[in-house]
Amino acid sequence: MASRNILGAAAAAAVVVLLAAAAAPQVAAAAAGVAELEARAGQLRSAVAAHPSSFEAALELASTLHQLDHSAPNGGKRVPEAAAAYRRAAELAPQLEARAAVLSNLAALLLAGGRVDEAGQVMNSTLELARELGMEHSELYVGTLFNLAKAEQQLGRREAAQALLRDVLQRSKGIAGASYTKAWAALKQFSPEERRELQEGIRYLRRSAKGVDERSLSASRAAAWRALRQRWGWLDGLSAVDRSWMYWGAFHAYQQEGWVW
Ligand SMILES: *[C@@H]1O[C@H](CO)[C@@H](O)[C@H](O)[C@H]1NC(C)=O
Repeated sequence: MASRNILGAAAAAAVVVLLAAAAAPQVAAAAAGVAELEARAGQLRSAVAAHPSSFEAALELASTLHQLDHSAPNGGKRVPEAAAAYRRAAELAPQLEARAAVLSNLAALLLAGGRVDEAGQVMNSTLELARELGMEHSELYVGTLFNLAKAEQQLGRREAAQALLRDVLQRSKGIAGASYTKAWAALKQFSPEERRELQEGIRYLRRSAKGVDERSLSASRAAAWRALRQRWGWLDGLSAVDRSWMYWGAFHAYQQEGWVW
């Protein structure tokens, strides 16, 4: 159950990355109703036909269909058209950063649509392009790494998937919180260092949720709390849902290794 949720969350996250990274036309799709989105897709088809070399039209058609596939699934019937529009947008992208963002969305679409091999190949191309652009520490890069881990897992290459998740954990701290916490939830085996890191992060989340009154602490405990907060305070910016993936990770670590809290 957990992995299906994580996968859905990853696909949704990629849409957000696109909007941030490629400055795509609004979409504002999260709030829009399905009928409105369908109507919008119809208009965008006409726009694409009238302006075949418009990056914005191709991208907006792709992301509208992607959003529909996500919010009103119909067995992936929209995926081929959405994928073709993303590919077209990738060709037309005015900058390489925008192309990388479009490719990462294409990959998320294909993964959610069950075209896992193809998704993995697009993810590898996205990562290669992102490395050329020096974007190894971007949300786009680690989000794509995370999705590649899911793809490798689905292709039955469990070792490769675990190695990618460890890469995500290394790179995402302070940069891409949702990928960081979801990587914990997807990890299957925990090294002693990883257990320590996860345990410390959870300790921070628990104490922070309860609220800490520094004045009631001894000087040494206050200093220890400040050090903990300095390392982990960045988690405060995450949504409750994204933070909760850490608890999934802890639950798995506990289940699999008899880890006592
Ligand atoms: C991505 O590239 C790596 C390194 O070349 C390769 O081992 C892996 O199989 C590729 N993954 C997919 C899903 O194509």
